[in-house]
Amino acid sequence: MEKLRLFKYPGTKNSLLQPLLDLFRSSGCITFVDLFGGSGYVSLNVPSERIIYNDVNPEICRVFETIKEDPAAVRRHFGEALRAGLFKRESLERADANFRRWASTRDVAPDISEALLTILKHTISFGGEGNTYATREKAVIPYSRKTFEMLPAIAEKVSRWIIENSDFEPIIRKYDSDSVLFYLDPPYGSKKWYHNTFSSDDYFRMRNALHSIRGKYVMNFDYNDRKLLEIFGEPDFVYEVQDLNQNPGTGMRPNRRYYFSTNFLH
Ligand SMILES: C[S@@+](CC[C@H](N)C(=O)[O-])C[C@H]1O[C@@H](n2cnc3c(N)ncnc32)[C@H](O)[C@@H]1O
Repeated sequence: MEKLRLFKYPGTKNSLLQPLLDLFRSSGCITFVDLFGGSGYVSLNVPSERIIYNDVNPEICRVFETIKEDPAAVRRHFGEALRAGLFKRESLERADANFRRWASTRDVAPDISEALLTILKHTISFGGEGNTYATREKAVIPYSRKTFEMLPAIAEKVSRWIIENSDFEPIIRKYDSDSVLFYLDPPYGSKKWYHNTFSSDDYFRMRNALHSIRGKYVMNFDYNDRKLLEIFGEPDFVYEVQDLNQNPGTGMRPNRRYYFSTNFLH
């Protein structure tokens, strides 16, 4: 079945979805807590009846909250924006100005307008960073049409989420129980993609919070970051995927390796 996705986002775990779904099934857990939810790609596709989506970034949380509150209005205005030609390859500054001008002439509620603008920015920007000049995102129009088609299924899924906009630590305390699987996909240290910075102190906080939980967890992390290896130790397992991006001149790239730490599957 086709996987649901709403917008492009740096660090989206497209290639890790299958192993994560397998892990959720084998965990026997009922609740899935996506502590660093980002684009929501994992939460949108995990087959759990109880999903807690969390991210510290208020802008992306508001997108999902708006879809949950008024899915019909989001879809209607998304369709209008598509037909008005607002989803196209252009600079973010121009896209922002064009969208705001268009929204001001219509009856779009402010929260829906902001949610659509966030989706628009993450759709047209390079790598979905939402703040970068859109020079290379070629397939904006078909991608946006597909999003429009998927919106009812996305809204159905999101209607059953609990959405939290918080640092990860209180969320672990709030939802910890025997039947919970926490998924941790934290920012990688060197990347400056996100709304806030994530320091080694934050990784220590993660390790300490996970140390005493009743639930299960799975975390993917950057093996090349020596500091993370010192904090979390050797990974519990490695998942390899073929890197489909051709390396010009030198042929196929080596497989990509993803490193996981977990407190089950031992
Ligand atoms: C690697 S991305 C997650 C990508 C996500 N798994 C997906 O598939 O789209 C990391 C996310 O962590 C969020 N984040 C950063 N610091 C955080 C914190 N202290 N608590 C919760 N979320 C945080 C960022 O806003 C970002 O969306």
